[in-house]
Amino acid sequence: MSFTADRLLLFGATGDLAQRMLLPSLCALHDDKLIAPELRIIGTARSDYDDDSYRNFAREALDKYLPDFRKGAIDSFLPRLSYQALDATDASHFTDLSDEIGTIDKGMAIFLSTAPSLFEPTIAGLTQAGLTGDKVRIGLEKPLGTDLQSSREINDAVSSAFSEDRIFRIDHYLGKETVQNLLALRFANILFEPLWNAAHIDHVQITIAETVGLESRVGYYDGAGALRDMVQNHMLQLLALVAMEPPSSYDATAIRDEKVKVLRALRAIHPSETVTGQYRKGAIDGQPVPGYDDELGKDSDTETFVAIKAHVDNWRWKGVPFYLRTGKRLPERKTEIVINFRCIPHSIFAARGAKTQPNALVIGIQPEENIQLQLMAKVPGLDRDGIRLRQVPLDIAMLDAFAGPKKRIAYERLLLDLIEGDQTLFVRRDEVEAQWTWIDGIRANWAEHNHKPKTYSAGNWGPSAAIALAERDGVTWHD
Ligand code: BG6
Repeated sequence: MSFTADRLLLFGATGDLAQRMLLPSLCALHDDKLIAPELRIIGTARSDYDDDSYRNFAREALDKYLPDFRKGAIDSFLPRLSYQALDATDASHFTDLSDEIGTIDKGMAIFLSTAPSLFEPTIAGLTQAGLTGDKVRIGLEKPLGTDLQSSREINDAVSSAFSEDRIFRIDHYLGKETVQNLLALRFANILFEPLWNAAHIDHVQITIAETVGLESRVGYYDGAGALRDMVQNHMLQLLALVAMEPPSSYDATAIRDEKVKVLRALRAIHPSETVTGQYRKGAIDGQPVPGYDDELGKDSDTETFVAIKAHVDNWRWKGVPFYLRTGKRLPERKTEIVINFRCIPHSIFAARGAKTQPNALVIGIQPEENIQLQLMAKVPGLDRDGIRLRQVPLDIAMLDAFAGPKKRIAYERLLLDLIEGDQTLFVRRDEVEAQWTWIDGIRANWAEHNHKPKTYSAGNWGPSAAIALAERDGVTWHD
């Protein structure tokens, strides 16, 4: 549906995501004049605010979370906001909401960031109030279910009111500039594609490491765990972007068609190919931090770390393992993809005693974006008895290469695309279902084998078994 929305309806407008990400992103878009002056933003949640008190609430959030260079935009941004208190389980409230929204001229974008249990009543309320017509599209924030079955139920409910081309499933990793740059790196350069396959790549590593612990998300996180919180969505999207075939164009259908083929080609995981862990007390940056069980206040079998040896069963990736790991309370915040190439077929330097190491392409996604190609080079010098070689990095620091552009929050891109109706960076239903199918298989395996997480001290790279998972194949994690 092609229209630029002139209404944005924000469910969950008082929540943590709204305060930390959505309001600051919208204010940034306003500041850069990327949204039309007539776009009105209507916040809704249970809390009893009126327009003025909600604007005060928003001002506090913006003072706290907006970068300093944007703060000058707050005053002119706030008048865009209005607020309607709403209990999503009470259908009559949606009539008031509809009155507040008024006539939609061009179109409306809805951003649904509420508890999954409220998805269905919200859709029913919107339908009954006539707020789901062709001029309306909807963005859905995770978690979209806890397994394939529940995700299908949510998707069924949403698609009873919205056609797929009006459903925008959010994975905020796709909004990261650095993640989009993966597509540019792969498909705007001729260098990599000829080597991007099992003939030249030995294995791939993807790490999403966080230093934070449970934060204030006790209820949600303990029911989810690292596999569902991070692997099902962000990790698998990164994997799909690395492994997919070249799409024919940069458009939503072409890109999503290729990603879903990868997700469907993921081989079911054998229990010996996963390691899970749960952090115990330790230290991050020299500061002591409590264990997961202490934060939670009880024992739990929820994994805060998972490492997986995955396989994409297709022609391009036959025999190339993808080592994936993600966890909380790891030594540093780092998201990184490492493409490890094969050894050269024959070393002309061996007889002179020089060792060669395989090339690697290290793609740093966050905290800073940088791309590093590990190459072999001769160590300068007049060595009598031979030649010395050493691996040296060819570094491209994106921040230096593109000094100037403001650092953006992933949600700026995603909200703008939702308002304008570009689905390229949103996840299609078949992708989500392929993701859940693979994840459900892993969880079923764990249940069958009574798999329990091993412990690791906060500030370590997960349990030692995660290191062994790679080392038994002769692979070392890139730290
Ligand atoms: C969220 C997870 O989807 O992503 C969180 O629910 C996690 O547990 C967060 O901390 C990580 O996002 P980012 O952008 O900080 O890497």
